[in-house]
Amino acid sequence: MTQYEQLADEIHALIRSGSLRVGDRLPSVRTCSERRKISQSTVFQAYYLLESRGVVQARARSGYYVTPRAQDPLKGPETSRPSLETQTVAINDLVVEILNLSRRHEVIPLGSAFPDPALFPLDRLARSLGAAMRRLPPRKLLEDLTTGHLRLRQQVAQRYAVDGIHADVDDIVITSGAMDALNLSLQAITEPGDLVLVEAPTFYASLQAIERLKLRALQLPTSPAEGVDLAAMEAALASGTVRACWFMPTFQNPLGALIPESRKQAMAELLARYQVPLIEDDVYGDLYAGTHKPRPIKAFDKQGWVIHCASFSKNLAPGYRVGWACAGRWTRAIERLKVMSSLSASVPPQAAISDYLAQGGFDLHLRRLRKTLALQRDVMLDAIAESFPPGTRVTRPQGGYFLWLELAPHIDAIELMRQALTAGVSLMPGPLFSADQRFAHCIRLNFGAAPAHEVTRATHILGALVRALAAEGRTDSTPA
Ligand SMILES: Cc1ncc(COP(=O)(O)O)c(C=O)c1O
Repeated sequence: MTQYEQLADEIHALIRSGSLRVGDRLPSVRTCSERRKISQSTVFQAYYLLESRGVVQARARSGYYVTPRAQDPLKGPETSRPSLETQTVAINDLVVEILNLSRRHEVIPLGSAFPDPALFPLDRLARSLGAAMRRLPPRKLLEDLTTGHLRLRQQVAQRYAVDGIHADVDDIVITSGAMDALNLSLQAITEPGDLVLVEAPTFYASLQAIERLKLRALQLPTSPAEGVDLAAMEAALASGTVRACWFMPTFQNPLGALIPESRKQAMAELLARYQVPLIEDDVYGDLYAGTHKPRPIKAFDKQGWVIHCASFSKNLAPGYRVGWACAGRWTRAIERLKVMSSLSASVPPQAAISDYLAQGGFDLHLRRLRKTLALQRDVMLDAIAESFPPGTRVTRPQGGYFLWLELAPHIDAIELMRQALTAGVSLMPGPLFSADQRFAHCIRLNFGAAPAHEVTRATHILGALVRALAAEGRTDSTPA
């Protein structure tokens, strides 16, 4: 843990214990730096992190104050306790049914997997698309098939370098979104019947991939704040039966969990010790609410056991379907599978994104996007606190754009989803996120999928529905 994270955690603990109360002012940055003998910038980073957690608020020329939200009546969900049996997976029919149902309605899309398209520089991308295609020599359209547009691969490698990760241009395969990269990676490192470790809950597409490739899944206990349980991971690896891991260590879907860097490092060491590859699904890494981009496990991977998969779908160009795998020793295997399945990712969107990146402005766009998402997270948390029944549990992620809610145990999330769609709001029900369709009373909500006022309105609509369902449950269980 860095110095500023430690300071932030200490102050957060004082707030939780009530030693610092709502409205109290934190010591000034200068006082704190003198008392602690640390730099003012470290203190500032700690305060900024607390602000991003929503527990303090800066007031102009006055300092940092503890917010009402700091004494949040809504607790976070507990670490999951999945069945520790290996499972064959049959989730696809349910996923398709739920996605189709949501598509049939005109709704505020809190069930969506993407941020609001209005948050992206679509005009500039369109100009880049036109300019890049006019410039591209016709031959180039065919030369970069299979591994992808060379200039874009160089730009991706440069972005890794900025994050302190060495990535060879030849180890990067451009794919149709991260989904393609993840699926090809899993196929490259497994045979039917192999066992794959996943989080619980996990992104349903990992379960669909496991189902399609006729693999088996073992779900690991996962903390909504800090991700997959390391002891459980080690026990599974030590059994010698695991062929691959598929985790989302940074702003996990659906929990939003962020594995602390010290644990990411320990995970990289475990993978090397047991020689098991990890597919690191990292599509939300740029969408952090704090001051620093969290480093992926790939940053600690000295022996090359991590295949890092990401895309521009969630941070720049939704619908362009441009992603990649940074795959080290598995690069050629992934390329071969890519050639066999679809030959290559489409060239024009790659050329457009490459042109956009070359023009500059991506980092400024990301800063704006992050700021909007962090604000909208608090908007949704406030609306949940106002309208959902007491006892609702909700995550408070440090990035991404999903909240995970645990409702009263008798509430059926799929029934809630049907009612919500009729009322004009979509959501993702919990059973999609596990091999054995657990989490029946949980839902995933997207706080970035619509403008703030719509997020508030939709959350209030859901709150009213959940209250009604909660009350029905109480009546049912009242003895006659
Ligand atoms: C965790 C995670 N990984 C991968 C993807 C797919 O990314 P892409 O749209 O780039 O294929 C998603 C999309 O929802 C996701 O949530």
